[in-house]
Amino acid sequence: MFAKSFVIGYFQSMAEAQKGHTVVLGVAGGIACYKAVELVRLLVRDGFSVQVLMTREAMEFVTPLTFQTLSGHPVATEIFSLTQESEIGHINLADQAEVFVIAPATANIIGKIAAGIADDLLTTVVMATRAPVLIAPSMNVHMYGNPILQENIRKLKRLGYNFMEPAEGYLACGYEGKGRLPEPEEIVEQVRGLLKKKDLAGEKLLITAGPNHEAIDPVRYLTSRSSGKMGYALARAGVRRGAEVTLISGPTSLPPPAGTRLVRVKTAAEMREAVMDAFPQSTAVVMAAAVADYSPERFIPRKLKKGEKPIQLHLKPNPDILKELGAKKNGQILVGFAAETEELVANAKKKLREKNLDLIVANDVTAEGSGFEGDTNVATILDRKGNVQPLPLMTKEELADRIYNHLLALKNEQ
Ligand code: CTP
Repeated sequence: MFAKSFVIGYFQSMAEAQKGHTVVLGVAGGIACYKAVELVRLLVRDGFSVQVLMTREAMEFVTPLTFQTLSGHPVATEIFSLTQESEIGHINLADQAEVFVIAPATANIIGKIAAGIADDLLTTVVMATRAPVLIAPSMNVHMYGNPILQENIRKLKRLGYNFMEPAEGYLACGYEGKGRLPEPEEIVEQVRGLLKKKDLAGEKLLITAGPNHEAIDPVRYLTSRSSGKMGYALARAGVRRGAEVTLISGPTSLPPPAGTRLVRVKTAAEMREAVMDAFPQSTAVVMAAAVADYSPERFIPRKLKKGEKPIQLHLKPNPDILKELGAKKNGQILVGFAAETEELVANAKKKLREKNLDLIVANDVTAEGSGFEGDTNVATILDRKGNVQPLPLMTKEELADRIYNHLLALKNEQ
């Protein structure tokens, strides 16, 4: 009896928390469509308003009536249906969505979205929405492993789409392996996460990213192995949490994160200038860029020709941007990074102190899963109060959120 009323109370308070939030669920044609039915039931139980749209292929597996009955809303299936367009409206659906879920997502749908094709209702609405998109793939294990699909997933992740890993197990096609749609409860959990409150609203974040190019002659430059991924992940996470973000980026091949003011620079000197310009209007600065410490003493205006003898390159030190900010900060929170190959914590503490920082994110760039080019990082966060928080291996996206949690905690104590 107690247990039952506790459970009812739990769902009632959960439903209260999600009340009014609209989830648009796109159902593509795979055998896991039957699990999407359960997903709708759970979302409705949690108080979400659920609008379902289905591809033609999905209707081969489950009828719209099933989804309509469970969601309590008409199901959209056709882009060129006059009745549906006047009753539901595809742009209306895109605008209403607070989270857009695609479950199950087939290789075909993922491929179309990655290619920018919008030739049916689902792909059109997903292209028009500004809501976070959560994609839960489900397919045959070999299809999932196919490099074309994996490249499409990587591309979409880079562009800010959220993916769930398929579960492993027995697949309807008879194979064992990775390809099962994640459990509907787990999908609901992800939806809740994406609706996280905008706790960085009002913050004006200045983020730097990437390497610098310091020209030697018209065809050669000095640089580092920085990919810019950490800074771009910070920019995306900042926007997601409601901050106004200025991203000052060295040369990278990454797509511009949506919703940020992007300033592109090449050299450390240009980066310094852009940072100093934006600094007074900022509430916090996160220096994720691998700023070049040196640049050639003089630029050789013509291409340096090869010769037999060794040559010497004279380098002059560049200004330390973060140290300069540390000396002039005026209420801003300063976050630095420390890329180390030895004595991680000791070196990071020294930088925290010498640059007058509030937080520093230290990572051993030689450790497995850590460093420049990958999508993951293993970091330790240190703050001005002496707290040292070692973190496990996580994606740069997750690390960005941890950094902001720490930043907000420091701010609240100020
Ligand atoms: N940084 C900076 N300007 C520089 C060098 C570094 O603003 N000229 C910033 C980086 O963006 C980073 C922090 O300072 O947030 C530490 O950078 P890192 O390269 O780890 O250390 P350095 O200070 O350059 O010292 P060292 O190279 O000797 O480790």
